[in-house]
Amino acid sequence: PEQTNSCPAPTRLAPGDSVLAPLLLLHPPTPPALSSCCQPDESSARPSAPPTEACSAVPEPWRFDCYPERGAIVSRDMCESRNCCYVPQHTGQDGVPWCFYPPDYPSYSLDVLSGDIMNLQLEVFEETDTRLHVKVRAEYANVLFLIPLQSLTLRGCSCILSNPVYFGLFVIYRRSALICITYILFLNTTVAPLFFADQFLQLSSSLPSQYVYGLGEHRSTFQHDVQWNTLTMWARDVPPTEKTNLYGVHPFYLALEEGGHAHGFFLLNSNAMDVVLQPAPAVTWRTIGGILDFYVFLGPEPAAVVQQYLEVVGRPAMPIYWALGYHLCRWGYQTSNATWEVVTSMRNYGIPQDVQWNDIDYMDKFLDFTYDPVHFDSLPELVKDLHAHDQRYVMILDPGISSTQPQGEYWPYDEGLRRGVFIKDAHGNTLIGKVWPGLTAYPDFSDEATHEWWFENLQRFYKKVPFDGLWIDMNEPSNFLDGSTNGCPSNNIEDPPYTPGVLGGLLRSKTVCASAQQKLSSHYNLHSLYGLHEAKATASALTRLLGKRPFVISRSSFPSQGQYSGHWLGDNRSQWKDMVASIAGILSFNVLGLPLVGADICGFSEQTDEELCVRWSQLGAFYPFSRNHNALDSKAQDPSVFSPSARAAMREALLLRYSLYPLLYTLFHHAHAHGHTVARPLFWMPLFTFSPRPQVPQDPLTYGIDRQFLWGRGLLVTPVLLPGADSVEGYFPAGRWYDYYKVREQSPLFVCIISLGKNILLSAPLDKINLHLREGSIIPTQRPNLTLWVSSGQPLHLLTALREDGSAAGELFWDDGESLDTYENLQYAYVLFTVEQVASYITVESASFYGVQSRPEQVQVNGQEAAFTYKDNKVHIPENK
Ligand code: GLC
Repeated sequence: PEQTNSCPAPTRLAPGDSVLAPLLLLHPPTPPALSSCCQPDESSARPSAPPTEACSAVPEPWRFDCYPERGAIVSRDMCESRNCCYVPQHTGQDGVPWCFYPPDYPSYSLDVLSGDIMNLQLEVFEETDTRLHVKVRAEYANVLFLIPLQSLTLRGCSCILSNPVYFGLFVIYRRSALICITYILFLNTTVAPLFFADQFLQLSSSLPSQYVYGLGEHRSTFQHDVQWNTLTMWARDVPPTEKTNLYGVHPFYLALEEGGHAHGFFLLNSNAMDVVLQPAPAVTWRTIGGILDFYVFLGPEPAAVVQQYLEVVGRPAMPIYWALGYHLCRWGYQTSNATWEVVTSMRNYGIPQDVQWNDIDYMDKFLDFTYDPVHFDSLPELVKDLHAHDQRYVMILDPGISSTQPQGEYWPYDEGLRRGVFIKDAHGNTLIGKVWPGLTAYPDFSDEATHEWWFENLQRFYKKVPFDGLWIDMNEPSNFLDGSTNGCPSNNIEDPPYTPGVLGGLLRSKTVCASAQQKLSSHYNLHSLYGLHEAKATASALTRLLGKRPFVISRSSFPSQGQYSGHWLGDNRSQWKDMVASIAGILSFNVLGLPLVGADICGFSEQTDEELCVRWSQLGAFYPFSRNHNALDSKAQDPSVFSPSARAAMREALLLRYSLYPLLYTLFHHAHAHGHTVARPLFWMPLFTFSPRPQVPQDPLTYGIDRQFLWGRGLLVTPVLLPGADSVEGYFPAGRWYDYYKVREQSPLFVCIISLGKNILLSAPLDKINLHLREGSIIPTQRPNLTLWVSSGQPLHLLTALREDGSAAGELFWDDGESLDTYENLQYAYVLFTVEQVASYITVESASFYGVQSRPEQVQVNGQEAAFTYKDNKVHIPENK
């Protein structure tokens, strides 16, 4: 193609090039591969079948599906009409496509795909040393939708190729300079044809390994299976089920390369899509709208990839301090007094609790912004009482606004109608669906006017019930009907030529019509952004109302959600396998920029049992967001209802969480300020060394671990995930690991595991969750109390696990816990601890240093000689010295 003057010639790799070296491969025209959405031009010749030998020679893992239509029974004729290979037998695993692209399809002719294409633009921005941004766009009349993201600073080469007719895209190598400079291929989009058509865009790429993470929201292991695994993305209300699209949409993956390098890939696209992983390993992105707008993040460390991703979509908000406390909720408290009784009995048993929640039972006839005047008549007093005990109140809000209340009696609907804030159907009438209160209209949160209306509703309700935070549920948005009370029109928006593998088979399944109209675009384009837009409106309303950091937990989510809300993993079940799966979910959402995440502790639906609930409470004490929640017909499962021993174990686990609050809060600061993860997988840490800078992971045995996780760099959590167990096997990456409890108790007993990277069997009686401190860490802890408000006033205690060379480091971020933008406005203390030097703006009560090889001659605190004891390799500086 012609190149504009500003565009340098396509880059070719040469030693000395920057690490990022996009290589544009411009191919000569070849016959098109035709998808069902793009009928062949009548005048074009029917393509002929590729030669059988060439087809059979394509290795099974590398067969890219040429007939992805759901449920299609593909005949040879159908397949060959697309000029694809038809090989109905395979020796490998199920999932190998019978109809696949022949090897000579490196590119295709765009103009045959759609007569509409007048102009196609390829833009390649090397935005930073570690970020490549590629946009392929065409100017279609109705479906083009660009997701607004914060504006980005561009740097380096900006190429615009105008009016290209053919192109293949590119290959990216990582320059490695271990011995001599080599180039390692990690992304190659020429492995299968690229499609760019109205309602059908497809891009395939090789992957550097089978280690692929992210790609939410799905119920799966943390490391995704690449054995013909289709991950569909389209926000959907359904209890977490394998191989199904769930509540949120996150088209971002992180992949490991050989040697532990990592890169990330983000397709900024909100349309329904399939992401297919296959064992080559390779990935295919197949979306039905928008443009191909993607970013490649070069890491090279996994942690750096997440940081680079969050630079684009936005880093998570700093949570208000009590968000990190224990939250108690259930559906079915029935009355405000029953809710209050639970709070009281938690207090009586001395079990920490920061927040009490109410589900939809608090509402009058399930109407948003009301409360039941009979069963919840004491709600305002309950909230007052919570506040008097430094506790907080959070209630649920669903987006569906009842449309059937007598006129003049329900302000949210009347006023919403007057202001035109609701989603319209294809004819411009308010679209009506059905949720808990019956028939409902759906606020259009893509419209700023709706934000104002939402705020005013909250303001009016706040005068009656001074809530502290909000739980936004059913925001996929969920609909008990498919589409609307009037169904949906029949057109190519409702029934696109290609429908990704969405649950229910239709885009409108259990949501509103795809053809519904919103301010910003059609629901077809905006559907999966509904939860993000609602969270944005809710967070901003809370900020205006309370003048503090907003607390919002949302079920549906999209990239950049972390700026506005946290998330819980939805309607899990009271089963051991659901508890196991929660760890993968929490790790994934940390990678996706939503570190404030947890699963319903003890399980939502079905009946829990005491052992499961104890084990789950122990694990849940280490969810970044820790909430026990239960379904309508399930038995009570708050800690206060169990036997004294179970209750004691749960209490212990929560006190442990509260004592670790300074560490947790500091980790959230780093998430907010630097895009770090809070809960992280074991491969996030380097082997042998403990460097403040993240390093590439080099222990492949850690790559698949999702039954253990870390808080930050140094605290390893090994929960029991099986019934009847009194021990648990955990993997200990190379290095020294100190038993957290022994360190805390200042025990003279042997406290350290020295591992070369192995599984170790740990004792795990029912009242214990195993925790280990990694060598080189100093973690700030605090004497716990029943609320974080009280705990956070207590003196700190530093726990230190020395490296063999006698060093360790840690840190503390501290501020008032609730004011907005304390970091941005420099209203905080940031304390770095090293074993040589403890600088502090807060009171450190005492400190213990383990692993000190010989008795030091002197110990100084703030430059002054301090009294200390030395015993069993431990230096202890006692209180008030
Ligand atoms: C949805 C939520 C669940 C809630 C229920 C009733 O299923 O996911 O948490 O309890 O609705 O509001």
